[in-house]
Amino acid sequence: MPTPLDELDLAEFDLFDPAFNADPFGTLHRLSADHRLLRTPFGLIVLGYDDCQAALRQPNLHQGIRLLQDMQAITDERFVQRKRQSILTTEGDAHTRLRKLVSKAFTPRATDRLRPLMRELMERLVDPLSALGQAEFVSEVSDPYPIPIICALFGAPTEDLPLFSRWATDILKSLGFNLAQDLPAILAAEEEMDHYMEALIERRRREPREDLLTDLIVAEEAGDHLSHEELIMMAEAIMLAGTDTTRNQLATAMWLFAQHPQQWTLLGAQPELAANAADEVLRFNGVVRSVIRVAAHDVEVAGALVPTGTLILPSFAAANRDESYFSDPMRFDISRASDRSHLSFGGGIHYCLGANLARAELAEALSVLARRMPGLALEAKPTWRPPIGIQGPTSLHLRFEPGS
Ligand code: HEM
Repeated sequence: MPTPLDELDLAEFDLFDPAFNADPFGTLHRLSADHRLLRTPFGLIVLGYDDCQAALRQPNLHQGIRLLQDMQAITDERFVQRKRQSILTTEGDAHTRLRKLVSKAFTPRATDRLRPLMRELMERLVDPLSALGQAEFVSEVSDPYPIPIICALFGAPTEDLPLFSRWATDILKSLGFNLAQDLPAILAAEEEMDHYMEALIERRRREPREDLLTDLIVAEEAGDHLSHEELIMMAEAIMLAGTDTTRNQLATAMWLFAQHPQQWTLLGAQPELAANAADEVLRFNGVVRSVIRVAAHDVEVAGALVPTGTLILPSFAAANRDESYFSDPMRFDISRASDRSHLSFGGGIHYCLGANLARAELAEALSVLARRMPGLALEAKPTWRPPIGIQGPTSLHLRFEPGS
């Protein structure tokens, strides 16, 4: 029988404690030995792997991204309505329907057709840096990397890349904490992108091609299709979910490898380990460290009966280092037996739709980088994003042996 939440004496936890932020993974790992739940002003942190998986699969715990608007008192009807219809926020039958239709377009085969582009892009980004033997990795490599891939995914012409970059910058602000201030820019970018996608969708209806947009247009399930509005919403969801995550995960990977030079040398010598390396980076230091759920009814979470409305934060940072699930979890090792069951892509019905694509983007990038940046080391201390939301360095000065 679960214990009612108010009868539990839960440890209070400060997400902004400098000691926690200096070593978040170590702190959570230590706390996991004695606790299943921690209390924060934002909600309950769930620590263990099995408890997090159960929370992610619990149908009465709903997606909480929408709370970002509520907390910031955003009421703009266009904005709110839009977020309500996105695959990222819908639940139940509405989500199942969308997911069935769009997953047909996110197969490994669809991802594989972009691998040559990923390699070519990464080679081109490294070319001007190679002779220098140093780089500010965030602005010169990881930030520009995902947008051309998203652009190609939609089958948009290369000359429109600057448009996608601008929209991504503004639309990504909808996951931030300055919504009131950023709203005009977000709405303007959404409107521009809508018009652009409308025209592109029309073109693809007339001239189908080998791209995601065509796959989404033709995707059919028992006679059902995505409506025009749903196609446009999907484009925005992909832009929102697939850009900042990937670029921050890649920069985080390089920061990790700079501190594990033997692992970097190993990857350089055995590029076939790149797929494994991508998953080990995701497990060891995933950039989405937690998601937000809201209890839609009274529900059991990690042995506690939590009341309706409680915010639940399944902690991937803790679960991915749960020693009852992963062996020697505090060791970063790209040659550990391939294990893709880490939680960095989430779990349950909202499991990352772009996981195949993200894995390919990371693996292709890392295999090029390990060959072209041997002897990787930190040139300066990196600076980091604030401790809430997607994590990753805001600057990362690296050095390496020039000329490769
Ligand atoms: C390293 C890169 C990535 C990471 C770490 C990541 C992580 C995640 C996580 C944790 C979720 C679950 C969110 C939740 O449960 O609240 C998610 C969902 C999602 N991701 Fe990713 N993601 C990545 C890349 C991508 C890419 C490249 C795309 C698309 C091109 C993408 C598209 C999506 C979509 C559409 C969802 C929502 C799925 C749903 O609600 O059914 N992601 N991602």
